[in-house]
Amino acid sequence: MTLRARIHGLLDEDSHGHAARRVRALEVLLILVGITSVSAGTVDGLAPAARAIAAAVTGAVAVLFLVGYLARLWVAPEVLRFHAVTEARSRLRWMVSPGGIIDLLAVIPALATASGGARLGAESASVFVLLWVLKLATHAPGVGLIGRVFHNERSALAAAAALFLVVLFSAATVAYWFEGARQPEQFGSIPAALWWAMVTLTTTGYGDAVPLTATGRIVGGLVMLCGISVLALLAGILATGFAEEVRRREFVRIWELVARVPFFSELGAIAIADIVARLRSRSYPAGTIVIRKGAAGDSMFFIVTGEVEVRLGSRTKALRDGDFFGEMALLERKPRSADVVTRTHCTVLVLDVAHFYQLAGQQPALIAAIETEAKRRRADAS
Ligand code: CMP
Repeated sequence: MTLRARIHGLLDEDSHGHAARRVRALEVLLILVGITSVSAGTVDGLAPAARAIAAAVTGAVAVLFLVGYLARLWVAPEVLRFHAVTEARSRLRWMVSPGGIIDLLAVIPALATASGGARLGAESASVFVLLWVLKLATHAPGVGLIGRVFHNERSALAAAAALFLVVLFSAATVAYWFEGARQPEQFGSIPAALWWAMVTLTTTGYGDAVPLTATGRIVGGLVMLCGISVLALLAGILATGFAEEVRRREFVRIWELVARVPFFSELGAIAIADIVARLRSRSYPAGTIVIRKGAAGDSMFFIVTGEVEVRLGSRTKALRDGDFFGEMALLERKPRSADVVTRTHCTVLVLDVAHFYQLAGQQPALIAAIETEAKRRRADAS
């Protein structure tokens, strides 16, 4: 593997390797340090020494971002979606991608300081808090998810937004009719009354504009009720959209892991879908005791990657990618027969006991195959 490919592996957002995760964590830490130092620089009574330290830290963070930007620009030809184009073109495409633009904006303090020579004033430097918060957002795993939920639920959200606008304008118009003459400043026109309608409809209630006539108050009460209903509707749409998207992503992730376990490869799509819905993934570092001899059996495990050892008295048995363990306690309804300890970092799929018995009813062939292997192991152990 070339140096460029290795560095790309470290910087790639989709990479799940240990080192890549550490680089990502370091970058998030740098952003937080940068935001803190810029924010500290805006505090009025800061001692000159502390101000100088804050400015130096901001500068150092900006320089490190510049190094990161140049590194990402260099490794852009390694990005899978740019493989079909020339190196120069792939770099250009990365530069104009949303991630590239945000990274460029984040290095502006370093570029500005280098070209201007002068230290940035606290006020102009504070702009970078916004840019760095934006950079932080690109690292948050939930940001893409939120975008996806808004996209998936766009028609329901548009309907709720339309409803909101209808209530907003109706409320402002009615308030203008009844309150306009009495309070011309707050309700003298529909645009002026819109402020009151917005504040009331969103249940904020600043209290700067208040209906005084009896009819105006009745309208105000109705607007408040409508506001709560529309907000509840919006929250409901977003909550169900979120739950659905998380479930969908988890399903795809587990499906990909299941595809790597040969034991499941003979099954048809319907059976796999049945199993995927019941599995969850877990990761264990090397040296973790996953199963303790004598404990109650509450789940079984399929190894996606990594190696474990089954401790059978004086000897050990290694199980690796594609093998399973923890089935004997479930099949025999007995305590665990051995300790199982990870030898390397392991990713496993876990099937809980309740799901195991459900599957036994729905996928008898699968459970029969597990039973055959368990019999062989029992014979081996005795
Ligand atoms: P269980 O008894 O639930 O917990 C310990 C697990 O170790 C057991 O299920 C099996 O999955 C595994 N195991 C026990 N004996 C052997 C063996 N001889 N070879 C491979 N794996 C075994």
